[in-house]
Amino acid sequence: MDYDIKEIKLAAKGRLRIEWAANNMPVLQLIKKRFAKEKPLKDIKIAACLHVTTETAVLMDALKTAGARIRLCASNPLSTQDDVAASLVKDFGIETFSIKGEDTRIYYHHINSALDTKPNITMDDGADLVSSIHKNRQDLIPRILGGTEETTTGVIRLRAMQKDKKLPYPIIAVNDASTKHLFDNRYGTGQSTIDGIIRATNKLIAGCAFVVCGYGFCGKGVAMRAQGMGAKVLVVEVDPLRALEATMDGYEVMPIQEAAKIGDIFLTTTGNTSVIRKEHFSRMRDGAIVGNSGHFNVELDIPALEGLSRKKRTIRDFVDEYTLSDGRRIYLLGEGRLINLASAEGHPASVMDMSFANQALSAEYIVKEYRNLEKQVYAVPLHIDEKIARLKLDSMGIKIDKLTPKQEKYLSSWEEGT
Ligand code: ADE
Repeated sequence: MDYDIKEIKLAAKGRLRIEWAANNMPVLQLIKKRFAKEKPLKDIKIAACLHVTTETAVLMDALKTAGARIRLCASNPLSTQDDVAASLVKDFGIETFSIKGEDTRIYYHHINSALDTKPNITMDDGADLVSSIHKNRQDLIPRILGGTEETTTGVIRLRAMQKDKKLPYPIIAVNDASTKHLFDNRYGTGQSTIDGIIRATNKLIAGCAFVVCGYGFCGKGVAMRAQGMGAKVLVVEVDPLRALEATMDGYEVMPIQEAAKIGDIFLTTTGNTSVIRKEHFSRMRDGAIVGNSGHFNVELDIPALEGLSRKKRTIRDFVDEYTLSDGRRIYLLGEGRLINLASAEGHPASVMDMSFANQALSAEYIVKEYRNLEKQVYAVPLHIDEKIARLKLDSMGIKIDKLTPKQEKYLSSWEEGT
């Protein structure tokens, strides 16, 4: 067995934490049970590039139970839980290549190790597997049936590849399933981002001016939870519809140039680059805290912050203090990497339950349907999305109504009016 992890002795702790997560992932457990009987991924090689967390471990276990042969690497240098990586190797027999804090060279070395198995399916969170295959490993393409993509940023990259006719094989956009982004992006990011900020800083959220850049589902979740904890929330947007939505949701909307002067805590969730730049850092108050929950660490222009500073020191774990030339201090969280995974544990298991149920069922779908798929980005089929919603409701003991025949007829007709 091949692997590269921090320390195998951490496995015992990881195993217990994985058990805790599994207890909170009932939908994935049901899928695993069926997979154990049907073995729908028998001998399918999967390269997975995901945040190496307890929840990911539960997914890996379900895929292995389905018969898959898996190699896992991290989708971010700071998101690996080293005890989980150890337990995946020792207790679950999953070849894992990830170490929290790995540098860029090792990060890509680990991606290549995952690809070395010549996978049939790629499972991405941020599209680094697909883009590495496109750039350096095109020889792998003929064996690949398809891939899945977990996150908004990855789906955007893959759609751009499709537009340029560079997408090497079909992709299922797990992110776009309703049972993924309506819950994971909103409630998952909302809770775990606030959790990450608090664990890193131990700051009181109540009463502070909290600036959320980007009002997609992640931004909505963060704004909602920050407001719930008593912050005054300011939203920064470029999209008029989202800006209007934020306004009517009760937040103050303004350009970052203005918000920069007011905010106590700044959080980016746009998926774009250079959202907070030199001209914004230079207007911030002494003590401003700046973090990111978007997939890549490009949302904050960290080189610009460094250029403005005369001194930098790490004042707490995941908090770097930058002192500007006039003495003002700006605190950067988690080196600008996604703070919910850098200083906290990512989204809670019960929301990842639905996201990873989509991953598991999309992998099964690829194996069944790859002959009918083109080099395109596809939505998760609606029947899978609805099935996951029903299983989740069942697991929560929630029952819903059914249309009567009269209602079904009414909805499918156009003749009835006033
Ligand atoms: N992305 C956000 N939270 C996550 C988690 N807990 N596990 C895997 N990927 C995640």
